[in-house]
Amino acid sequence: MELHKESDISCSSAAEHYLIELMNEIKIFSPATVANVSCGFDVMGFCLDNVGDEMVIRKIDKKGIYITKVENFDLPFETELNVAGVSALAMYEAIDVDFGFEIEIYKNIKPGSGIGSSAASAVGSVFGMNELIGRPFNKTQLTEFAMKGEALASKCEHADNLAPALFGGFTLVKSIAPLKILQIPSPEDLYATIIHPQIEVKTSESRAILPNEVPLNKAITQWANLGSLIHALHTSDYDLIQDSLNDVVVEPYRSQLIPLFNEVKDVSLKAGALGAGISGSGPSIFTLSKGLEQANKVKEAMQSVYETSEIDFDIHVSKINTQGVKIIG
Ligand code: HSE
Repeated sequence: MELHKESDISCSSAAEHYLIELMNEIKIFSPATVANVSCGFDVMGFCLDNVGDEMVIRKIDKKGIYITKVENFDLPFETELNVAGVSALAMYEAIDVDFGFEIEIYKNIKPGSGIGSSAASAVGSVFGMNELIGRPFNKTQLTEFAMKGEALASKCEHADNLAPALFGGFTLVKSIAPLKILQIPSPEDLYATIIHPQIEVKTSESRAILPNEVPLNKAITQWANLGSLIHALHTSDYDLIQDSLNDVVVEPYRSQLIPLFNEVKDVSLKAGALGAGISGSGPSIFTLSKGLEQANKVKEAMQSVYETSEIDFDIHVSKINTQGVKIIG
């Protein structure tokens, strides 16, 4: 892979850059993300603000990639079986260095929650390593490495969670080969509310239930909605966002895996959400709202559904995070 200094990496001064190059250890925050955004299956995603994993990446004398700590969830320490390890190995194979890296993972995003748990791990390791070696790779190249880790979890290569985690904001994965990622503007007043019922839906399983073919009339509706969503985000047209957030292709199948999905969607829309849909492959459900107050009103409505059931849940209100993965120490 060709190395070059990128124009799309978050900028910092030359002095900051020099300091990072001297550092042997870095602590990063790798955010949760919402993929698909109803009409953009496998191509659209956006980044959340206040939910994510923390990771420490450390340069060590010994060559290789080592997972030395995993907190909160029972994930493999074997590098080849760990999503963060696999993406790190993909990047490590592309560099020629006489040292290695240790990775500590403080996992806050539950695996199988539908808010990009594996993507956060896959992104965190390559972002941290890249910082420690002077940022030879741009964000698109980092996404390519991270796709190897994501593929371990979901059994296929896609980047709709990875791209928003790396770039921040809304992203559209225009193509996978060659990988082309477009950054889409986030309207200032747009907020997400995400509810996570505490059941696990494996991405590989929720992909397996989808049909291989889509009827033409449904495809037409879906690409019209995706096109209009992109236009609405560019023009901060909240009415058009509302009109575009529909999924006639995937949601009818996957919603059956999520208890009370239709009820949550119904109360959210009645409470004033612009739209509601499955976050990634589920079981989390996302809504978008205009303004924080409205997003909180939608939160009350969403949680009222699961409060009357036996199902435990987490719920978050988040502004769209336009920065993405970042250094915290
Ligand atoms: N686009 C993916 C899916 C996201 O819905 O299966 C989850 O990895």
